[in-house]
Amino acid sequence: MTDTKDTWFKSWFNTQDYLDLYKHRDSHDASKLVSLIFSNINIPKGSNVLDLACGSGRHSVFFAKKGMFVTGIDLSAFLIKQANLQLENEFLHYKDKLKFEIRDMREIKHVNEFELVVNLFSSFGYFKDDNENEQVIRSISKALKPAGYFVIDFLNREKLINTLVPYDIKRTDGKYIVQVRKIEDGFVEKEILIFRNSDASTDYPVLNHFNERIRLYSLEDFRKMFTHNGLNIINTFGNYDGSIFVKNSSERLIIFAHKP
Ligand SMILES: C[S@@+](CC[C@H](N)C(=O)[O-])C[C@H]1O[C@@H](n2cnc3c(N)ncnc32)[C@H](O)[C@@H]1O
Repeated sequence: MTDTKDTWFKSWFNTQDYLDLYKHRDSHDASKLVSLIFSNINIPKGSNVLDLACGSGRHSVFFAKKGMFVTGIDLSAFLIKQANLQLENEFLHYKDKLKFEIRDMREIKHVNEFELVVNLFSSFGYFKDDNENEQVIRSISKALKPAGYFVIDFLNREKLINTLVPYDIKRTDGKYIVQVRKIEDGFVEKEILIFRNSDASTDYPVLNHFNERIRLYSLEDFRKMFTHNGLNIINTFGNYDGSIFVKNSSERLIIFAHKP
């Protein structure tokens, strides 16, 4: 891989391997989170929704099914291609309500446009510099209309630190995947090694090597970033079933914020 460790997200998410590794993060999982969102905010049909770091659009389509006009933005050309392919197939019925764009989340320029912005499934904290991560929150706040909502679904730092599995090996789709994890300097870092059989040109297996690195922001860190940027936290949840957020044990940190 030619990307440096600081730009790991450009290579890893641009692969089928990413979709294969996280295949349990499917449309059923997405529908649960979108239901949780609509049980807790009230925006009219025809509202504009920004799915920031939308991946292959698995949540975007459920927002469209709820009658929203959805813009999905993601840096990965591969995942946006998957989203656009689905627009011609499974998502066809909602084609007039969905558009997908390849763009860096640091470069969103929308102002006062959305009733709802979402950032789902740990799609934040990818940049080494805190200012760069906070810049994303600033852009989200600007992109929201007054009285708009922002929902972020992030990992729960405490639970992750307390239960970190240093490494595991799994076999899936004919590949062996080794994941090595550590916490360092406030980040969770993962090395992902994927071994697959070569296409007969050699007897040796082919190895692909990727990294993941996410800044471990806590609820209090988010509160500070949100307050600096004109967003008020109105609710938190610890899982997609709507259970309350408990710092030491919740799977997820799901935050609902409001722009006054
Ligand atoms: C963990 S995935 C989640 C994708 C999607 N929200 C989902 O739940 O399926 C993180 C996503 O962030 C995107 N991403 C990473 N860096 C980005 C950046 N700088 N700007 C925009 N999107 C980015 C990746 O391409 C990937 O689709």
